[in-house]
Amino acid sequence: MRITVLGSGYVGLVSGACFADFGHFVTCVDLDKAKIERLNKGEMPIFEPGLEDLVRNNAKAGRLVFTTEIEPSVADADVVFIAVGTPSRRGDGHADLSYVYDAARMIGRAMTSFTVVVTKSTVPVGTGDEVERILRQVNPAGDFAVVSNPEFLREGAAIADFKIPDRVVIGAEDERAKRVMAEVYRPLSLNASPLFFVSRRTSELIKYAGNAFLALKITFINEMADLCEAVGANVQDVARGIGMDKRIGSKFLNAGPGYGGSCFPKDTLALVKTARDNDSPLSLVETTVTVNDNRKRAMARKVIAACGGSVRDKKIAVLGLTFKPNTDDMREAPALSIIQALQDKGARIAAFDPEGMEAASHLLQGVEFCDDAYDVVSDADALVIVTEWNQFRSLDFERIGAAMRHRVLVDLRNIYRYDEVERHGFEYTCVGRPSGVARGHLLEAAE
Ligand code: UDX
Repeated sequence: MRITVLGSGYVGLVSGACFADFGHFVTCVDLDKAKIERLNKGEMPIFEPGLEDLVRNNAKAGRLVFTTEIEPSVADADVVFIAVGTPSRRGDGHADLSYVYDAARMIGRAMTSFTVVVTKSTVPVGTGDEVERILRQVNPAGDFAVVSNPEFLREGAAIADFKIPDRVVIGAEDERAKRVMAEVYRPLSLNASPLFFVSRRTSELIKYAGNAFLALKITFINEMADLCEAVGANVQDVARGIGMDKRIGSKFLNAGPGYGGSCFPKDTLALVKTARDNDSPLSLVETTVTVNDNRKRAMARKVIAACGGSVRDKKIAVLGLTFKPNTDDMREAPALSIIQALQDKGARIAAFDPEGMEAASHLLQGVEFCDDAYDVVSDADALVIVTEWNQFRSLDFERIGAAMRHRVLVDLRNIYRYDEVERHGFEYTCVGRPSGVARGHLLEAAE
């Protein structure tokens, strides 16, 4: 198969590299010259474990090339994936599809023989119809089929998610296109990953429904964490207890500072818009969006409470800035709202993140970026763990405590236990797991 992928962002690059690894001949196209030049030198524009090796090996084997030239790449291809960005449109939350439609126009002009045009970007229901209309308009005699094939990969685990997916969703009505798509994913069907063929509109909706459901699951456990704090229960045990019920499942029940990233916030908003536009509002998803937004600010209040009610002129050390570990992505990261809220209340912020500081430095003002977890705590009044990078899971609390002005730890990802931290003299606050002391108070209050 000759595959061309338009857009060398997260989804495009990972998909392109993995398709090449499946043995296909892949051309990744991006209009950003500098990005393509870097990729041709084997330098990755994003941080994703395993990606660099995958790209280099496949490029060396001649199965993966990078170019800014769209026309010849499309003309030669059996399948063209559209993997360009679909950011939230300013003002109304709708997905901005202008890049997708530009790509469709370019494909329409360049395609020669039968071409399967696949939307891999997350696109609202009906986008495939519009892509088809554009292709037909630009190239009335063209032989093509438009397919939806959403991507479910998670940043930080993208390659494994791509190569060993729970399922591959393919929205296609054209029989030739279905056969081509089955061939594209043939190595996966050998791995027993099901290819799930549905209608194009259904496929488009599956992607949004999946992300919204996961966002809802996280938000449910986050609210449950607040209730656990109020009644003296342990949210991790609640999550385990309900997660053992196979109908619920144990994943995505980690309480924390709220979900962020490039997908959940954007896709939930876009789904809410689609639902409203179709007079079929999704009130659970609307509430999820609001609760999650509020949660980020509530986390700043948690820090302030841990600091005795004020952070004015205090130094707060922040560990972890990215929206989750193993990525350099700062999009919608809870750290952004938390840090801004603390700064508004007069705090000085020092921060360290293993991969996210470059991106964070463009988004945050007045933050002192440090070299490591031990540098960041120097003279700090509190330490806040916002993202659960593995390297923060075994901190030397004696060393940290000795460097701090006050031994206050706010663990927004529940990566420590009370006893581990308190024996080093730390006052410990986490999410949904009241301390033995707090439980005692609650019991007294109840009597
Ligand atoms: C997500 C979907 O998982 C993926 O299928 C889709 O293709 C893109 O969106 P991603 O944004 O990379 O992937 O990250 P994910 O691991 O899903 O985490 C999203 C956010 O939820 C992060 O901020 C994370 O910290 C948070 N989260 C996740 C929790 O707070 N608790 C959990 O239990 C799980």
